[in-house]
Amino acid sequence: MTKLLFVLGTRPEAIKLFPVIRLARMLPSDFDIKVCTTGQHREMLEPFLRLFDLRPDHDLAILRPDQTLSGIVAGVLEGLDPLLVAERPDWLLVQGDTSTAMAAVLAAFHRNIPIAHVEAGLRTWDLNAPFPEEMNRQVMGRVSTLHLAPTVWSRDNLLREGVPEDRVVVTGNTGIDSLRLARESSTLSKDVSVRYPSIAGRKLMLVTGHRRENFGQGLADVCTAIRRLVEENQDLAVVFPVHLNPNVSEPVRRILSPAVATGRLILDEPVDYPTFVSLLCAAHLILTDSGGVQEEAPSVGKPCLITREKTERPEGLEAGVARLVGTNTERIVSAVEDLLNNPEANAAMSRVVNPYGDGHSAERVLAAIVQRSSSGFDLVGRSRGPSLL
Ligand code: UD1
Ligand code: UDP
Repeated sequence: MTKLLFVLGTRPEAIKLFPVIRLARMLPSDFDIKVCTTGQHREMLEPFLRLFDLRPDHDLAILRPDQTLSGIVAGVLEGLDPLLVAERPDWLLVQGDTSTAMAAVLAAFHRNIPIAHVEAGLRTWDLNAPFPEEMNRQVMGRVSTLHLAPTVWSRDNLLREGVPEDRVVVTGNTGIDSLRLARESSTLSKDVSVRYPSIAGRKLMLVTGHRRENFGQGLADVCTAIRRLVEENQDLAVVFPVHLNPNVSEPVRRILSPAVATGRLILDEPVDYPTFVSLLCAAHLILTDSGGVQEEAPSVGKPCLITREKTERPEGLEAGVARLVGTNTERIVSAVEDLLNNPEANAAMSRVVNPYGDGHSAERVLAAIVQRSSSGFDLVGRSRGPSLL
């Protein structure tokens, strides 16, 4: 019996750890599972915890309005340490590159608890892009025990940084497992034309945005582009579920409110996962700075324009189904209009490809953990001794 403690705090962590937790729960004689939410997100997390039946055993409840990065990290370190002492898991599992994940890794390291990092090895090598996630993932790459890399490219990044080969396993991205499960389940699918009747008969552009390095002028320029596109293209409808961060929602609503009157721009609250997946499937194109959405877009065959200068997910660019467009208004307008008006350009980017996963990554994650657990594997790469745990 292997005792796993999953720590998660934000929407994408719930989405991407769900398939792993679900599968581990289906194997009760192999795994004893505990789930801890840090509460880095609240309104944006709870519907996902309910939908995926994640039932956290612990909640550190750290969310503060307009919280600081140091506040998140301090809250997680302080809240998690006594829990690690009480629970003594065989493995701590975290996903991605949030402050929750990085702080949880530090807390586990301080208590000599082996760490499995799901979605390891993504890199831009620019600590400011994305900020602070690139720092978070580089720290996690130094400290984790087992690195579950989604792709060969991310595995190679870790090997180049000197991580021993036997500590890295290519699993695919578990987010694609969730996408597969959502598309296979009738209870997880939604008819979006009921919620958004104005998209019927129009080309839908689905928009998301929340990156800290885009706050201020970058986000304002993206919004200006969206406003112009809506005003100048009568066949375009835009659905934009707006992130709850006030640094996002305030400028987005201020700059875009005038275009809402056209009836073809919908500024929504963050939507539940089935609705979002249905929007992805209904979209003509996607404009986003999200990591998870960059992975989902090619799996549903939709062109993805990335409102960033760099991405840690180059596989979509290489497959020709994603493009970096940055935050410059003219560049965004021109790239979107090309996809609206040029069928060849659109078709070239509308191919279903799965560079990020085949929908069965959770199995590989758990198999890698079981294999390391039985062969003995500790923080310094020797066989696990009683002094360490
Ligand atoms: C966080 C992660 C980011 C991840 C994103 C997913 C860090 C530093 N950032 O960014 O890597 O891509 O989540 O969405 O870990 N808020 C609420 N309710 C919520 C969630 C957020 O009100 O349920 C507001 C609060 O005012 C909060 C602010 O949004 O202070 C920012 O939340 P935070 O988790 O710090 O940053 P995100 O931009 O959500
Ligand atoms: N998502 C959702 N509802 C929304 C926006 C996004 O369910 O209103 C999902 C989306 O399918 C993807 C994930 O949330 O799986 C992406 O989260 P986010 O962009 O917040 O974080 P990132 O992936 O950039 O870390």
